[in-house]
Amino acid sequence: GKGNYPHFMLKEIFEQPRTVKRTLDVYTHPAHQTLGLPRAAADQINLADVSSIYMVSCGTAHYATRVSEYWFEQLAGVPSKTDIASEFRYRRPALAKNSIAVFVSQSGETADTLAALRYCKEQGIKTVAIVNVQTSTIAREADVVLPTYAGPEIGVASTKAFTAQLVVLLAFAVAIAEAQGHLDEAEVAALSNDILTVNSAIEKALSLDDVIKKEVIHFEQAADAFYLGRGVYYPLALEGALKLKEISYIHAEGFASGELKHGPIALITAKTPVVFIAPFDDLFEKSLSNLQEVAARSGPVLLLSDEKGIAHAGSAPTRSIALPNTPEIIMPIVQTVALQLLAYHAAVALGTDVDQPRNLAKSVTVE
Ligand code: F6R
Repeated sequence: GKGNYPHFMLKEIFEQPRTVKRTLDVYTHPAHQTLGLPRAAADQINLADVSSIYMVSCGTAHYATRVSEYWFEQLAGVPSKTDIASEFRYRRPALAKNSIAVFVSQSGETADTLAALRYCKEQGIKTVAIVNVQTSTIAREADVVLPTYAGPEIGVASTKAFTAQLVVLLAFAVAIAEAQGHLDEAEVAALSNDILTVNSAIEKALSLDDVIKKEVIHFEQAADAFYLGRGVYYPLALEGALKLKEISYIHAEGFASGELKHGPIALITAKTPVVFIAPFDDLFEKSLSNLQEVAARSGPVLLLSDEKGIAHAGSAPTRSIALPNTPEIIMPIVQTVALQLLAYHAAVALGTDVDQPRNLAKSVTVE
């Protein structure tokens, strides 16, 4: 049941400290408290020999892989490529030797993702499934299964499955980084320490629920909304926009902040609310100048950042939300929680059917 929550979606958003922890525990070495893969999976994949990674999935699961691309490349130094399953399967891409293919799916039944998995098996490359439903077809057919432990997800809009996917992908990236000597023991220990604070960071983000709820005024009367981010926050912008459009039916698009000038800025008016996802990091100044460009065209800006970022931005954003200060590596997960709550409260304010949005099905078993 929904317990004390009005919707499954809200219940599932609030379950994330536990579902993320439960998932992370399986990918944490009990004695060393370092992240990695369970021994059998690590051996089967042969982590030391992986030369490149293809990740194939749909929708929200695809955005999880797009966030993780930065981790595989930056933490592990392994070239990675992501694709939407419906494109990948029909393109029949050429696959590099010693590459592996990773399929991410909550349901494990998504038709296009399954077809892409079968294609990779035919091509003879190792297949890895990151799935929430362990009895699913994708789990059965993949060579290696790395489960997420989000528990049953009832709300059609994916929330806790997404954050569980992110932590498994993060553990996977740390495991490859260590196996390939891209990170040494001390670096793995420090990084793991940071990552293991994620459930308390999620708790802190959830405690801002009332603050975030007030910010839905940002979308009042909006026909269109834009989400902008750089680096890992670019795919999160895509995910934030997907969540908003799915359940509130407000037309929303995500863009890379750096692409603003290359087209999207033509759309900015006083009636197009923009959400900037920009914690105070190396790319913040770049994001801030994009934010100022939007503000200069009267675009109302909601800045999702931290105290430092908000202090630096001064009066440029119309509104802002200060998320908790956390280690940089887990900030995308903290930002995700804010994006979920923002979409949720916007939909509730508009009176839509949050758990069963029109035209959508929880599991897409036909293409
Ligand atoms: C978005 C959403 C969908 C799914 C997509 C893939 O909130 O739920 O975009 O993420 O249909 O589904 P799975 O993960 O079951 O393969």
